[in-house]
Amino acid sequence: MEVFRIQGGSSLSGKVQVSGSKNASLPLFAACLLTSEECILENVPDLSDIRFMGEILSALGANVEKLGSGKWKIQASSIMPRAPYGLVRKMRASVCLLGPLVARLRRAEIPMPGGCVIGNRPIDLHIRALRGLGAEVELSGGTVKVNGRHLKGNSIFIGGRHGSTVTGTANAVMTACLSPGHTVLEGCACEPEITDLCRMLTSMGAQISGIGSHTLEIDGVKNLSGTHYTVIPDRIEAATYALAAAITGGEVSILGANCRHLGAFANLMNESGVELSESEKALKVALSKDGLRPIEAITLPYPGFPTDLQAQTCALACITDGLSILTERVYPSRFMHLPELMRMGASISLEGSSAIIRGVKRLNGAPVMASDLRASAALILAGLAAKGETWVQRVYHLDRGYDSFESKLNSMGASVERLTEEDLPKSFLQATDN
Ligand code: EPU
Repeated sequence: MEVFRIQGGSSLSGKVQVSGSKNASLPLFAACLLTSEECILENVPDLSDIRFMGEILSALGANVEKLGSGKWKIQASSIMPRAPYGLVRKMRASVCLLGPLVARLRRAEIPMPGGCVIGNRPIDLHIRALRGLGAEVELSGGTVKVNGRHLKGNSIFIGGRHGSTVTGTANAVMTACLSPGHTVLEGCACEPEITDLCRMLTSMGAQISGIGSHTLEIDGVKNLSGTHYTVIPDRIEAATYALAAAITGGEVSILGANCRHLGAFANLMNESGVELSESEKALKVALSKDGLRPIEAITLPYPGFPTDLQAQTCALACITDGLSILTERVYPSRFMHLPELMRMGASISLEGSSAIIRGVKRLNGAPVMASDLRASAALILAGLAAKGETWVQRVYHLDRGYDSFESKLNSMGASVERLTEEDLPKSFLQATDN
C-alpha cells in the first residue's frame, strides 16, 4: 500500500510537460492487432494501464516490446482470439480488443468487463455495432463471444442514452476497417482520442472519411499494414495541471498541451476567473485579477466539458467563493470524491447528479481515500490547497493514468511525497486504523 503525503499551501509556478494520452494510447495498442506487420508507437505515457494492455497483447500472442522512453514496438504476427480473464478484469479499456480481434480473426472472446466505481458501464452499444456489421454476439459464462464470419459493411446508429460511446466507437471503426463493403457509422464519439485512432488506422491503409465528426464512413479493405505513429498529448492531464495551478493561486506553463482539445474546459475556466492563454507552444495558466468565480458545468461528450475533469473541477469549486454547480450527464453517479472532499472541510450537497458546492475559505488536510483515477487527482489537488497535511490512500488508482504525477507537481513547487507501508508514521496508522 502506497500513500501520498501532501503538505499544502505552496503556489505552483514554473513549467510542466504533458505526456502522451492514456485514452488515446489504449485503443492504439489494440489497433496494432489489426495487422501482422510491425507497429511502432511513440509518446506513449508510462502508466500501469499501458503496461496491462501490453501484457494482454502479449497473452494474445503479440510480440510487445518497450524500446525506450515512450516508444513501443508491437507485432501481432500470429494471435489468439481469447483474452485472459485475470488480465482483462484489471482494466475496463480491454473491451476495445473486441473490434480488432473480430476484424482480424473473425472471432473474439473477451470476459465481460464488470461494474465500476464511476457507475454502470454497459457494452450494449458495442454489441449493437458488431451485430450491425453482421457479427453474431452472445454472452456465455460471463464472456462476450463474437463470431464474425459474415462481417459486412452497413449503416448503423451507434449513439446511446448518454450520448456517444468512446470505446464503442473505437470497436465499431476497427471492425468496419476490415469488413467488406461500405459502412456508415452515425452517432460516433468525436473525442480527440477517436480522431487519433482514425488517423493511425488511415496511416495503416484504412479508408475512413468524416474523421473528427459524428458520422464516419469506412470502406473495408482486405489488409492493413504496419505503421509508425505518435500519440497525441493527454488533454485531461494538461487540464489537471491547469486546475492544480488555479487551486494553489499559482502561475504555470503547460508544455506540449494541445489547446484545441481543451475548448469547453478553457472556456469554463476563463468564465470562472482562471485565465488560460496559448503562447509559444505552451498553455499559460494564471488567476484573473478579480479572483475565482463560481463554476457552473455540465459534463457532456466532446466537445463538451469532459466527465474526466469533473472531480478535479469540484476540488477547485470547494475553495471558490459562492455557489458552484457541477452536473454529471455521462456517469450520473461519478461522485465518490465528494465525501472525501467533505472530510477536508468542503461544503457540498449532492442533488441527483449535481454537486452543489459552497466555497469555503480553506480546506484542511486530512487522511482521504481515492476511489478511482480522477478522484485521486481531485484529492491531491485539494491537498495542495489545504492547510496542513493530507494523506491520500490507494494511489494505485492515480498510477493508472498520470505519468510521474508527484514529480511533475514537485517540480512546480508542490510538496507531494510517496510513502510505502514501511515509511508510514505511527500517527497516520493510528488515525486510519491501519
Ligand atoms: N454507454 C452505454 N452503452 C455502451 C457504452 C457506453 O450506455 O455500450 C454509456 C456509458 O454508461 C456512459 C456513456 O455511454 O454513460 C459514455 O461511455 P463511453 O463508452 O464513452 O466510455 P468508455 O469508452 O468506457 C472512455 C474513457 C473514460 C471516459 C469516458 C467518457 C477510455 C479508455 N476511457 O470510457 O475515461 O470517462 O470515455 O469520456 O477511453 C478515465 O480516463 O478516467 C476514464 C474513465
